[in-house]
Amino acid sequence: MVRCDTDVDERDEAIGIRDGRIAYLGAAMNAPDASATLDLAGRLVLPGLVDPHTHLVFAGSRADEFARRMRGVDYHTIAAEGGGIASTVRATRNASDAELLDLAQTRAEALREHGVTSVEVKSGYGLDTENETRLLRVARELGQLGIVRVTTSFLGAHAVPPEHKGDRAGYVRSVIDEQLPAVVAENLADAIDVYCDEGAFSLDEARAILEAGRAAGLRVRAHVGQFADLGGAELAAELGACSADHLEQVSDAGLHAMAAAGTVAVFLPGAWRTLRQAAPRAERFRDAGVTMAIGTDLNPGTSPTSNLLLCAALAVRDAGMSADEALLGITRHAARAAGIDDVGSIRVGAHADLAIYAVQSASSLTYALGGVRANAVMLGGRMVVERASRSLW
Ligand code: NIG
Ligand code: FE
Repeated sequence: MVRCDTDVDERDEAIGIRDGRIAYLGAAMNAPDASATLDLAGRLVLPGLVDPHTHLVFAGSRADEFARRMRGVDYHTIAAEGGGIASTVRATRNASDAELLDLAQTRAEALREHGVTSVEVKSGYGLDTENETRLLRVARELGQLGIVRVTTSFLGAHAVPPEHKGDRAGYVRSVIDEQLPAVVAENLADAIDVYCDEGAFSLDEARAILEAGRAAGLRVRAHVGQFADLGGAELAAELGACSADHLEQVSDAGLHAMAAAGTVAVFLPGAWRTLRQAAPRAERFRDAGVTMAIGTDLNPGTSPTSNLLLCAALAVRDAGMSADEALLGITRHAARAAGIDDVGSIRVGAHADLAIYAVQSASSLTYALGGVRANAVMLGGRMVVERASRSLW
């Protein structure tokens, strides 16, 4: 195999795979006996991409709302009318488990078309114990289908549901005292997440929820600073979060706290584009020493995309990431943000998850504005996508 990945010596030309993991990297002539070999000459091989932020399990569409927003109606105005997240919650609660799994599977396959092999999947459109646990069960089941690897995050604190309108404190208590214990009892989540922002949950509410999740053994992540800086980056860092996501609004103190704690910043270009917001400036993160990753934020409201390479291309154009930073942001650094072991880099011992592209060079992946699909995708040593086409770029 000819390979091209910054992690490994350029002279390595063969990847040996045993039991679904990478067992050998080096010169082809020294490779251990191979019963089956695959010639990838001339193609670019990357670790399978990692999407560290998705809301994959939901029903319904918000295309009508999008049309209104593009005519100038504000996201928060629509939410206050009972649209926005609440409208997806209604559609999701009304969908059967089988429908939700079918939709999630279709989205996972769409992500994989571009080379994604590992995905973080959040709940957050159920917003009561029955439905949040249902969404996380669907996410776990998705992980067992062998389409992509899945890690799950419990996001009961995505919005206050209509039945708790006027009783925020009661809803926060139900997240901590009812939903979380049910999620933990069935081992449905690997992480706890919270939407800490203007129009969502306050810093104190976020702290109570994240601390409860952490005490229950979950990893920590949070949506912070999408609209306003409430100090969520500092909170995430203090709690040792894997990631803090969005960060259009963040102070220098927040960035330094994240750098010191090793909390990865996840950029979500689909959301800043759809909301017509200014992107975060990668330079500030780089200067503060914060590790950067990129996610699709696949969701029906603010980021209806399954194209992680398009998101990386936008992070380069809008936020000023370098092409190399963007590639690390959807591989090695995204794996750290998602908290998934043994993925995101090509090294001996890692899962044999590979994304193979018929492009001219690695920089083509972010030069192309969304047109690139993987030529082949390997998951745990098994080819799960193969097509003959060459890329335009
Ligand atoms: O990540 N920020 C919060 N949640 C989503 C939006 C969800 C929705 O509008 O349905 C996001 O952008
Ligand atoms: Fe999100």
